[in-house]
Amino acid sequence: MSPVAPQPLWREVEAGGCMVDGQFIPEGFNVGAGIYSLHHNSVPFPDPYKWDIERWIINPAKKEEEEKDRLKEMSRNFAPFSVGPRQCIAKNFAMMELLLTMANVFVRLEFEGVGTLGEGRKGMGVGREKEGEFQFKSYFTSSMEGPMIRFKVREI
Ligand code: HEM
Repeated sequence: MSPVAPQPLWREVEAGGCMVDGQFIPEGFNVGAGIYSLHHNSVPFPDPYKWDIERWIINPAKKEEEEKDRLKEMSRNFAPFSVGPRQCIAKNFAMMELLLTMANVFVRLEFEGVGTLGEGRKGMGVGREKEGEFQFKSYFTSSMEGPMIRFKVREI
């Protein structure tokens, strides 16, 4: 619901162009799919803004084969680490860290949500008014000011 890298991961189309979803994209154009958008596609993820962890579990009241297909389709559309040769190089490491951290939290701690800090609310502006949705800004890399450097062509 809140992917670490939510923005499109731009890729430049190589010589000869390429097809994306039936659309020809010429060489030199940049294309990218935003992971936030991918994860909020209501086809594989009905009611995509709802925190519904059970959507990842087979519903015993439904046909098992259909449930398996549904889960497969969700997994195909779930790509927080991106996919392909430039996907996150540390995916396995990060998953292990997450697993250990969450396992420790569940075993050692009791926890509950307190207040609505970080949630969207009316008056926050376009795209920021969904109550219950954790709001975040996308920064792919460090944010900084300076240093300032003046360059001058060397007289050789
Ligand atoms: C939950 C944790 C993480 C998520 C969701 C995540 C997600 C991503 C994504 C989406 C990319 C692809 C960027 C692109 O295609 O342009 C990426 C690349 C990368 N990530 Fe992660 N990452 C995580 C943790 C980490 C950690 C812990 C490290 C290092 C210790 C790391 C190192 C890298 C590196 C070096 C790349 C660039 C790989 C390349 O360009 O070939 N990531 N990550």
